[in-house]
Amino acid sequence: MQQFVNFFTNLFSSASSEAYNINTLFLRYMILAGFIVLLVTSLVIIGAFKYRAKKNTKEPEQVFGNQKLELTWTVLPLLAVTFFFFLTVKTMSEINRPFQKNEKPDIVIIAHQWWWDMRYPKYNVETANELHIPVGKNLLTRIESADVIHDWWVPELGRKIDAVPGRINYTWIDADKPGVYSGTCSEYCGAQHAWMRIRVVAESQNDFNNWIKAQQKIPSFPKDSTAIKGAELFQTKTCANCHYISGTPADASIGPNLTHFASRKTMLSGMLTNTDKNLKRWLKDPQKVKRGAHMPDFLLSKKEVNELASYIEGLK
Ligand code: CUA
Repeated sequence: MQQFVNFFTNLFSSASSEAYNINTLFLRYMILAGFIVLLVTSLVIIGAFKYRAKKNTKEPEQVFGNQKLELTWTVLPLLAVTFFFFLTVKTMSEINRPFQKNEKPDIVIIAHQWWWDMRYPKYNVETANELHIPVGKNLLTRIESADVIHDWWVPELGRKIDAVPGRINYTWIDADKPGVYSGTCSEYCGAQHAWMRIRVVAESQNDFNNWIKAQQKIPSFPKDSTAIKGAELFQTKTCANCHYISGTPADASIGPNLTHFASRKTMLSGMLTNTDKNLKRWLKDPQKVKRGAHMPDFLLSKKEVNELASYIEGLK
């Protein structure tokens, strides 16, 4: 029972006016549809009992057409459809707020198989899978894809928006109360589609500013000898050909930006919590952890895995 209640409360929980408008529209449709289902099924049941064939009766009276009834069942649905058409258009205009053509986006999201590249062009910050936003700000967000069609959706924060290769889409993201909101890719995009989760951390402007400042910092070079070995391996084992770590020669963006990897709560797009054990499992045999992911198996020895993990875990 509790699960049932939770399902419905979660279904309608919203943390932005867009999500609230979408939920309200959905609820209105649900009420109307529920009413129609009840009406039709009860009429069918009443009809089946009241007008069933009785013993020894002759052929019943034959009726052909009924103008009143036909008008009713044409006009009423037409009115309902017109009413909902206008409600839908109104909701659409509320959630797709216009923006200036030359307006710079606050956030740029590039969907990849199977993770999210997240950028803040105004702050020159880049992260992955975990988006931080300040509460109460409407953030213009540009959505792109690096490979196939994906779909951005954080239900409590607003509408879905497709990430289409070769096309740029815009949407707004905003949260009116602090919290952690989860979302997921909502367009089937291959083997690990289910593990393309989104984590949005909505925080006060102050906390957000601090987060941005921390993300802008160039991580200091490791002092520990294991981590130093790891930093060397990162270059020689060609990790640097796909990943970005600011302040180092690694400046590619084929894989997630690892500059502040250790500051994230999850890894592999929400698949695992970001722990030492999980990171080592991943480095040891990526295909065993997330089959199909574009991270190759570098056949690292146990020692190399430890060194790399030690380096990456220092990237706070
Ligand atoms: Cu990306 Cu489904």
